[in-house]
Amino acid sequence: MTNTVSPNTVSIDKPANLPRHLAIIMDGNGRWAKRRFLPRIMGHRQGAKTVKEIVTACRELGIPYLTLYAFSKENWSRPREEVQALMDLLYEYLQNEVDELLGNRIRLRAIGELDRLPERVRGLLFETMEKTSKNYEMQLVLALSYGSRSEIAEAARRIAERCIEGKLSPSEIDEALFASFLYTKDIPDPDLIIRTSGEHRLSNFLLFQAAYSEFYITDTLWPDFNKKELLKALHDFSGRERRFGKTSEQILLRCTGSES
Ligand code: IPE
Ligand code: IPE
Ligand code: MG
Repeated sequence: MTNTVSPNTVSIDKPANLPRHLAIIMDGNGRWAKRRFLPRIMGHRQGAKTVKEIVTACRELGIPYLTLYAFSKENWSRPREEVQALMDLLYEYLQNEVDELLGNRIRLRAIGELDRLPERVRGLLFETMEKTSKNYEMQLVLALSYGSRSEIAEAARRIAERCIEGKLSPSEIDEALFASFLYTKDIPDPDLIIRTSGEHRLSNFLLFQAAYSEFYITDTLWPDFNKKELLKALHDFSGRERRFGKTSEQILLRCTGSES
């Protein structure tokens, strides 16, 4: 049965300033399993349950964009059985969640080298994206077979091609034009990036888009992450002053509307 979100389920603990776009590097599934003497795939399986809980929580809170780093380009070099198991899990997730996504008016999207996904997974992914394409309440973006450096290189290649074809002049290339050639062209930059399992790195995730993102790192492993932990991260974010290169005084003036 679809678990449709109603306004009554919104937590009273809702932070004052929510990110418009929250991105999460879901890390630590393997270590979660290892600590329990279980195969790594059991960690991924448990991690998929966390995905459901966090998607629901973000929908309840009213976060418009949620990006989940589910599989990096570099993850293709993991043992074949693990890659296979992750693809199977993705297929299962799409199969099980489509009604939930439709019921909660969540649009599913994906960024990355999607043509590298196994045909059956890609087919279901595109079908689910199509089915949910009219939804507007929230956008759930899965980063799959995603690598930020190749996204940037690919954008540069396509821009160069346009210039050679005479459709674009090099003088027109600026930050906004460059961004319009990325997978994320119609998605705002992430305001907050959470990484679980204590690693302090981006691992080739949204390098261009994260220029002014806030970071929140927790030691909690992804399978143990939950709504309570999410709220902790969101409260932390809510209390931060984002200056974008300006001074604190300028930001305060803008908040009180006294800046010309
Ligand atoms: C994150 O967990 C899931 C993917 C990268 C697919 P890991 O599998 O990287 O877990 P650790 O880092 O080995 O604990
Ligand atoms: C980053 O995790 C990729 C995903 C969460 C999908 P990894 O576990 O692959 O990152 P590294 O190798 O520790 O940097
Ligand atoms: Mg990892």
